[in-house]
Amino acid sequence: MALVGCGSGVPSASVSNEDLSRRVDTSDGWIRSRTGIGARRVSGPGEPLTALATQAAAAALAHAGWRAEDLDLILLATSSPDDLFGTAPLVQGQLGAVNAVAFDLTAACSGFLFALITAGQYIAAGSVRRALVIGADQLSRWVDWDDRGTCVLFGDGAGAVAVEACAPEATGLLGFRMRSDGSRNACLTLAQTDEQQPLLDGLTSQRGGFAAIQMNGQEVYKFAVREVPAILAELLESTGTAPAELDWLLLHQANQRILDAVAERFAVPRERVLSNLAAYGNTSAATIPLMLDEAVRDGRVQPGQLLGSSGFGAGLSWGAALLRWSGPGAATSPEA
Ligand code: UT7
Repeated sequence: MALVGCGSGVPSASVSNEDLSRRVDTSDGWIRSRTGIGARRVSGPGEPLTALATQAAAAALAHAGWRAEDLDLILLATSSPDDLFGTAPLVQGQLGAVNAVAFDLTAACSGFLFALITAGQYIAAGSVRRALVIGADQLSRWVDWDDRGTCVLFGDGAGAVAVEACAPEATGLLGFRMRSDGSRNACLTLAQTDEQQPLLDGLTSQRGGFAAIQMNGQEVYKFAVREVPAILAELLESTGTAPAELDWLLLHQANQRILDAVAERFAVPRERVLSNLAAYGNTSAATIPLMLDEAVRDGRVQPGQLLGSSGFGAGLSWGAALLRWSGPGAATSPEA
């Protein structure tokens, strides 16, 4: 599978650290020094997830030079759907991608990478030729804006990547690893509330609804700085890749200190670690494609370059992929 187009969509309202310090007991100095975050985008009432995801998807389609009808598959990685029955079909409908099957995939901040790898498997099996992989989240809906331990971290956004079948030697997915550890699920949750409703005599059912995000920040931090270098090291070894061969580290944007720790472990210089935390914070499933889109559009990431990517977060879940960016117009032919 070749990575041939990308796009993004973010809400227009930006909330700075100073803005937040007027609501909770925090400061720009604390947030920047502990996380690298300077601002985050927040969606308003007229900006559903579907709109952000569709904007990112349409931009990726245009970048790849495809028509919506050319798509076979749309995967939407999200933990904050507009509709629990699935938001991907809404995106498919708005795009007019009449030939594509569309469904959601939930793996929190690992979601985009897991979805990209999943699309890669359909393409490798020969059942899909062209796919859009979207990572989109609106955690502003689910954050407790009075909890300074979490509300400073998250923001809203969407990113998308267009992928298509190609000759095996041109593949943009050179290797991957995925992991889950549900025994540590309680570290980071967006869980159902425990509200009951009387139904019939002797029968009570549960009412649907979710509680705000709960996080043990220190545990998630320790998990990330231990597991991300470990899974990337495994991936590099299994693909016979030296860290020096990586043009870029494209990591989930959760905390600049996590990016720095991973870069240090592999002796990757700071200027080759992609980061846009300062502007967007942690946009969950959107961070990786949003970052890729920015770096492709400003010319940092060039066709043929290698990217070591890793996503990690709630689940707990984590994964890594060795990617090569092809860019629009890459010569393609069906995979064997
Ligand atoms: O996508 C994955 C999602 N999550 C993550 O990646 C989060 C990973 N964890 C982290 O990034 C960090 O743990 C945080 C940024 C969340 C917190 O940084 P920390 O250095 O681990 O801080 P801490 O939780 O140990 O708190 C240190 C102090 C505490 O005060 P005391 O007990 O020392 O008096 C907190 O109450 O900082 C306080 N604090 C704050 N102060 C000002 C916590 N949040 C804030 C805040 N502003 N926003």
